[in-house]
Amino acid sequence: MAEKKRKIVVTSALPYANGDIHLGHLVEYVQTDFWVRYQKLRGNDCVYVCADDTHGTPIMIRARQEGITPEELIARSHAVHLKDFTDFQVKFDNYYTTNSPENKALSERFFAAMEASGAITAKTTPQLYCEHCRMFLPDRYVKGVCPKCGADNQYGDSCDRCGSTYGAEELGSPRCTTCGATPVVRDSEHLYFELEPQHDYLEKWIPGHTTSDVSNKLLEWFKEPLRSWCISRDAPYFGFEIPGHKDKYFYVWVDAPIGYIASLENLGRLDMWNDPEAELYHFIGKDIIRFHCLFWPGMLRAAGFKGPDKVFVHGFLTVNGEKMSKSKGTFVNARTYLDHLPADALRYYYAAKLGGTVDDMDLNLTDFVQRVNSDLVGKITNIASRGGQMLQKKLDGRLGSLDAEGAALVARCREASETIARFYEDRRFNQVVVEICKLADAANEYFDSRSPWRTVKTDLEETRTTLTAALNAFRIIAIYLKPILPDYADKAMKLFGETEWTWESVNAARENCALGPYEYLASRIESKQVDAMIAAATVKPADSGEVAHESRASKNKGKGATDGGSGASEPQPKDVPPLKSEIAFPDFEKIDLRVGVVASCEIVPKSSKLLKLEIDAGPLGRRTIFSGIRGAHPDPAELVGKEVVFVANLAPRKMSVGVSEGMVLFAGEPGACGGVLSPLSSAGGGTPVT
Ligand code: MSP
Ligand code: ZN
Repeated sequence: MAEKKRKIVVTSALPYANGDIHLGHLVEYVQTDFWVRYQKLRGNDCVYVCADDTHGTPIMIRARQEGITPEELIARSHAVHLKDFTDFQVKFDNYYTTNSPENKALSERFFAAMEASGAITAKTTPQLYCEHCRMFLPDRYVKGVCPKCGADNQYGDSCDRCGSTYGAEELGSPRCTTCGATPVVRDSEHLYFELEPQHDYLEKWIPGHTTSDVSNKLLEWFKEPLRSWCISRDAPYFGFEIPGHKDKYFYVWVDAPIGYIASLENLGRLDMWNDPEAELYHFIGKDIIRFHCLFWPGMLRAAGFKGPDKVFVHGFLTVNGEKMSKSKGTFVNARTYLDHLPADALRYYYAAKLGGTVDDMDLNLTDFVQRVNSDLVGKITNIASRGGQMLQKKLDGRLGSLDAEGAALVARCREASETIARFYEDRRFNQVVVEICKLADAANEYFDSRSPWRTVKTDLEETRTTLTAALNAFRIIAIYLKPILPDYADKAMKLFGETEWTWESVNAARENCALGPYEYLASRIESKQVDAMIAAATVKPADSGEVAHESRASKNKGKGATDGGSGASEPQPKDVPPLKSEIAFPDFEKIDLRVGVVASCEIVPKSSKLLKLEIDAGPLGRRTIFSGIRGAHPDPAELVGKEVVFVANLAPRKMSVGVSEGMVLFAGEPGACGGVLSPLSSAGGGTPVT
């Protein structure tokens, strides 16, 4: 019976171009990939589009810090991201960039339509401006005292402690998080997207387009008028300039979702977006709900585009029950994982844990090793390896026929088809895995009950019959697993000498034919591989001092305020390159080493490791540097007046205790906490070290 083929457009959120893909991101891309591959296996016309999210202040600043253009930065990221995804078997039909001509044209078209519909207003508002950095400060580039509860160290949009939201100019004692300077208030005219006219529309739209846990949360904001959303940013900004508004740029969150459409257009399938017969789904994390379930449907409607059929929201990844942490080595980049472990293992484990809800998902590393070994390797792959190898070695690699018992086993596997299909469709991948494991159990029981290792000595044809049933059961299991483990399934397919599997292939059986050579499918993973990965991902506490840097998770991004939520709010995992034994001379040349005098040195309250040094660098002026050397210098006074060598051109680093503007070099035993570290001395202040 030929079902009607569905037309489906699927997206994952566009990862920021200034950070590496990490295991948290993969929760999203991997599950979207499961779903898309399932749809394709069913024969549906499903396209999966994504792109790098390339605009915004953090990308501009990162490029500045690296001394390259934003274009160079995003080109590099694009290649790295795509390689990470490919190696994790995440297969997009198009992985594009938001910095594209299609996206620029579409963004302008959206804006024109939104303006024509009367939804764009202009307002002059006071904004914080850093005279030192010469830029208006986005919410996440300013910290200060919460105007509601008085907690210090809060970002410019919302308070971590009391949860209230406010404008950055309301903060007490504000400071620029890049340079530490006190910003001034300057007026700037900005463009706003008015959402209140769509109040009723959105209130009705939301419940039908996402799960109830998500929509209930969103609907809380509808008790009050919806606040307008600021969609412009001042130059300097890396993005698209707004037509007719000189020096104003589209806020990154305007052109980012439009990037979904641009990617589809670049694929040559733009027609699918507004095709009434096509379905449209966004997969996103819970931190960006308000952009996808409020602003985005509002924009789409104002611009005359179709909205998504569903927004599928997932939770955040925790590792061993906690937020990912750089100092604990649980903030693991995709590449670091791949350096130590196979992609299949993570894909399998994520599938086993993902239930299509907004709940956070835990990667428990002990459970991970155990689950992969006992289920994927010990239970599922075991059928193929035991059966396949015996058939090759003792029975010329030829499959026989199914007897009644074997046919019953195979029928049982086939009967699970609709149940498993439903679980895939509903994104209950954990249930898919449960069903598959049940089938693998049945196949193993069958195998054991027929004792082929004994019959092989007495009755070769009976043994062949046994192995034929076990291997046919495995074949069906591998077809069911194909969306989760595509490479694995491809190898299994070759084992059976086939060239294409669809969902219907479960109805065929392989009898009286040759089996291909048995190729390795999956092997056990060892906890020492996990240990090595964690060691490689661990950032020394002195370097990772700033807690604020670690996976800020969803806390602030999802808040109800409709203004800002700047691109800088996102977790910005910093690439931590592995220690290399050699660096090239040009790398060394980049480091500007200078001599300075310690003008003052004090203990940092609440930190057992840090000292706050004031370095007088002569003509270069003074600067503050935090250094994790308190263990070696319990008496800070003793350092005052000493000459030290420091790195003068290190980008300022925001730590929980303040901004550190460089790094002082000390000599001593590596890692010798509490040992003696001596400052290196030389000539006068500010002298270059050669
Ligand atoms: N650039 C925006 C999305 C724009 S979509 C028009 C963004 N980028 S991101 O790189 O921060 O996140 C990309 C996706 O990965 C988001 O859906 C986000 O929720 C998800 N995740 C990022 N970190 C995550 C975890 N630690 N756990 C689970 N998902 C996470 O947001
Ligand atoms: Zn500044």
